[in-house]
Amino acid sequence: MQQTYPFEALPLPYEIGALEPYISGETLEVHHGRLYNAYVYNLNKLLSDRPELQNLTLEELLRRSVRMPKSVGVPLGRYAGGTYNHVMYFYGMAPESSYRPPQGELARAIDAFFGSFDGFVREFTEAARAVFGSGYTWLAAGRRGLTIINLPNQENPLMTGLYPLMCIDLWEHAYFLDYKNDRAGYIDNWWKLVNWEYAEGKYEEYASARRRS
Ligand SMILES: [Fe+2]
Repeated sequence: MQQTYPFEALPLPYEIGALEPYISGETLEVHHGRLYNAYVYNLNKLLSDRPELQNLTLEELLRRSVRMPKSVGVPLGRYAGGTYNHVMYFYGMAPESSYRPPQGELARAIDAFFGSFDGFVREFTEAARAVFGSGYTWLAAGRRGLTIINLPNQENPLMTGLYPLMCIDLWEHAYFLDYKNDRAGYIDNWWKLVNWEYAEGKYEEYASARRRS
């Protein structure tokens, strides 16, 4: 995500009803059309009178937000996180008809760190079910390899020195219209929508950044 200020909301990479029956068009209309757009709007508003931050990408803003005074760092992390995290969530899904399991380097890393793809799914599902309140479960890469991490609110692995590869949004707004309080049912169905090609691309971004550093 190489955009800088002013940030533009990205369109959904599929039709609004393309994730049905697991995630309805009605949910995406609220989630993408209103909530995600509000994060982008608020991020631009916050940056509008901070020219020193206007040439930074979302990744740089997120990394920097944790080193800033809380009066700026907290809202910046919240809005930049809400912008970045939602792009990862929406682009990290695809219609069920195009599903395929992970391939290549990422598939090999998953096997190496979690024993098998099934082992990884079990561990990630367990973590997602354990999220208390609003937050996300992430697959992230770091110096010690792949890791599953739960983060509250709109925090992002970049704020903890890790690189995000995929995520599931576990805020109630992501599933309440379709599942009411059945978060476990939402998590189980989300697996059918994971866009592994996107996660593989993120892993490649991480690997090439590491080769450069
Ligand atoms: Fe969300």
